[in-house]
Amino acid sequence: MTTGRAFRGLVLVGFMGSGKSTVGKELALRLHAEFVDVDERIERAAGRAVREIFASEGEPAFRVREKAALREALSVPGRVVATGGGAFMDAGNRELLKAYAPVVYLETSPEEVLSRLSGDSDRPLIRGGDRERVVRELLARRLPGYREAAWAVPTDGRTVSEVADRIAELLTTAEERQK
Ligand code: S3P
Repeated sequence: MTTGRAFRGLVLVGFMGSGKSTVGKELALRLHAEFVDVDERIERAAGRAVREIFASEGEPAFRVREKAALREALSVPGRVVATGGGAFMDAGNRELLKAYAPVVYLETSPEEVLSRLSGDSDRPLIRGGDRERVVRELLARRLPGYREAAWAVPTDGRTVSEVADRIAELLTTAEERQK
């Protein structure tokens, strides 16, 4: 496990249901780092849930809130930051996140996303309609953005702990290279 000596922080990106928050919490525990969930910060600042912000203000207003929450999350070094699934699609956000710390893309297939999110009603972008088509199309559109992350870690069929192990390994290797 990493010593934490050279730990700059870590950013998790990926589609809804890829495990950014759960894996992020696990890694923060292991690294003795502070965990920040950007969606949680948005909700706290707005005083209502993401789905309510989408319903009352629309997606563009949500993205403005997201950018502000992201900046605030990145104002302190050494955090493990879990972003919302769309945050990394904005070129400005991508630059900020990449400058902050290594960005890990939690790679998840559309099948796995659909299975993990079956029954979920908190995600406005995949509510109602043909969920399978929406997930496939949105994920395909977002892939080029996600692929700008420094590392991609597959999550299909893996436990939170296995995914965290793999990321910890990548961090240790990167730290050793810097010595
Ligand atoms: C979104 C993902 C959600 C949340 C919002 C928009 C997206 O976060 O930010 O509903 O654009 O993919 P999760 O990825 O944590 O579900």
